[in-house]
Amino acid sequence: MAVKILALGGDGIGPEVVAAALEVLEVVAPSVGLRVDLSEDLLHGAAWDKYGTFLRAETLEAARRSDAVLVGAVGGPRWDHISVEGGPAEQDGLMKLRRELDVYAGLRPARAWDALIARTPYRAALVRGADLMVMRELCGGAFFTATRGIEALAGGGWRAFDLNEYSSAEIERFARVCFEVARRRKRRVVSVDKSNVLVAGRLWREVVSEVHAAGYGDVNLTHLFADNAAYQLGRNPTAFDLIMGDNLFGDLLSDQAGVIAGSLGMLPSASLPGLHEPGPGIFEPVHGSAPDIAGQGIANPIGMILSVAMMLEYGFDHADAARQIEAAVDTCLDQGIRTPDLGGTATTAEVTETVIRSYTRPAR
Ligand code: NAI
Ligand code: MG
Repeated sequence: MAVKILALGGDGIGPEVVAAALEVLEVVAPSVGLRVDLSEDLLHGAAWDKYGTFLRAETLEAARRSDAVLVGAVGGPRWDHISVEGGPAEQDGLMKLRRELDVYAGLRPARAWDALIARTPYRAALVRGADLMVMRELCGGAFFTATRGIEALAGGGWRAFDLNEYSSAEIERFARVCFEVARRRKRRVVSVDKSNVLVAGRLWREVVSEVHAAGYGDVNLTHLFADNAAYQLGRNPTAFDLIMGDNLFGDLLSDQAGVIAGSLGMLPSASLPGLHEPGPGIFEPVHGSAPDIAGQGIANPIGMILSVAMMLEYGFDHADAARQIEAAVDTCLDQGIRTPDLGGTATTAEVTETVIRSYTRPAR
């Protein structure tokens, strides 16, 4: 099978980690019978410098025509102050890409790697075996509402607002994907909201319960208030399998969940337009462009490599290849081949080579 992949390195360490992940893909794809038709383009700052826009129409078109989009990272002090006309998505090539592709389901897994437990703030007995997926609604809520603004108050001071709004349709489509993803894991979902104080939270809880009742009786569903979820997650990360939340709660809880991985550089993500939709998903590491280490060849490529694993699993239905990539990463960490963010001295290239050398093709 041939698959069209668009790779957008972006800024800072973005192009470095994308190049590393593409080397891994070059070995993994043929091992599961995939032929990669790759094209590459610029995004955000890199696109601004060359074309004066954060996301070219041609790039967006190419993204729509591909089966998956890989993104490194965007942003940096050279561009962070630039302001163009329009809403928040216009200021950021990646936000615009996410919105245009309508990738409303964010998957942010994090696990405690045995070799890195000492680099987490947890005692080993508390975190060993923790393996989480935080799912974040990505296209709605206060982050994307059109009802936002700031106005001067007659008596002095200001009033600012971003409406926290969700329609039942938005919650429903997201909940479906969450339960489908749960079926590929341990079938335990915790949905978080603040239905005790927010009306939008009440609708969230109602709709999630309805979707669950209508077709996912095999999945265990629990509702938690978001603040309590944060507390329980911090206290006992092994108690959770899949946590689902709206754009804001998902943002916060996925960062918190990431602590168990030992470094920001270890965390992958997938942003999907549903599980069986024709449109492409975006696969990218959680970290930013790390301007402080860009160009030094020492960026940790594992978050990006694991994002390629998520592309194989959720984009191309090759969970087998994803598991083998994760096993190769495990071997690399066990051998002590680690970049400086993990306390090691290895380069991006050395880690990439070790992961490739440790990869074995899935059994058929
Ligand atoms: P950052 O994630 O780029 O860096 C935070 C710290 O983690 C830095 O010390 C960095 O060196 C380190 N780090 C991050 N990724 C690493 C990796 N793969 N290997 C080794 N060390 C790594 O976040 P920061 O500094 O807040 O933001 C820098 C720029 O990135 C800003 O312009 C920001 O807007 C942008 N950004 C972009 C994101 C994206 O493209 N998805 C996400 C977060 C920030
Ligand atoms: Mg965030």
